[in-house]
Amino acid sequence: MAFLSPPDASEDIDRPLIALVVQNFYARVRGDAVLGPIFNTRIEDWPEHEAKIMRFWSSVLLKSGEYHGSPMQVHLAIPNLTGSDFDRWLALFDQSLSEVCRPDQAKAFLSRAARIAEAFQFVRAAQGPEVLSALSPRLSTL
Ligand code: HEM
Repeated sequence: MAFLSPPDASEDIDRPLIALVVQNFYARVRGDAVLGPIFNTRIEDWPEHEAKIMRFWSSVLLKSGEYHGSPMQVHLAIPNLTGSDFDRWLALFDQSLSEVCRPDQAKAFLSRAARIAEAFQFVRAAQGPEVLSALSPRLSTL
């Protein structure tokens, strides 16, 4: 019944599309001069990382509830991320979306990503370097 459909249903986003977006995006990230080294030094198993991110986007956009992580803590624990790193991340994500999605689907992904990126940056800024370094050893065990 139409009134029971989730609000995102009109974009018609499904798991195969999420898989395409994630694979296209991280192929781009791995080859990027700025973001490549940040990811490549931390991620040992790329298929495992991509599978986790697919669960993340399924939870965000399809409300599947299959991702149970703490992305805020994970990103707070990466030192020295700048506003321009986040801009670069979003620009690469946008490029991937425009390659594999329709514009309405791309918008659904990108608007969520931009909001999450803003939240990451807001908390980083609010905490400041001293609090962050005091917190990092404990955050990594969460
Ligand atoms: C400057 C931008 C970003 C950088 C450099 C970055 C980098 C990373 C890295 C290196 C990891 C792997 C950490 C590890 O396994 O040790 C990671 C995990 C992850 N990232 Fe990002 N990221 C960025 C922005 C974002 C944004 C905007 C989102 C969401 C839209 C996002 C979602 C995630 C998620 C869900 C994980 C998995 C966390 C977990 O282990 O549960 N990231 N990121």
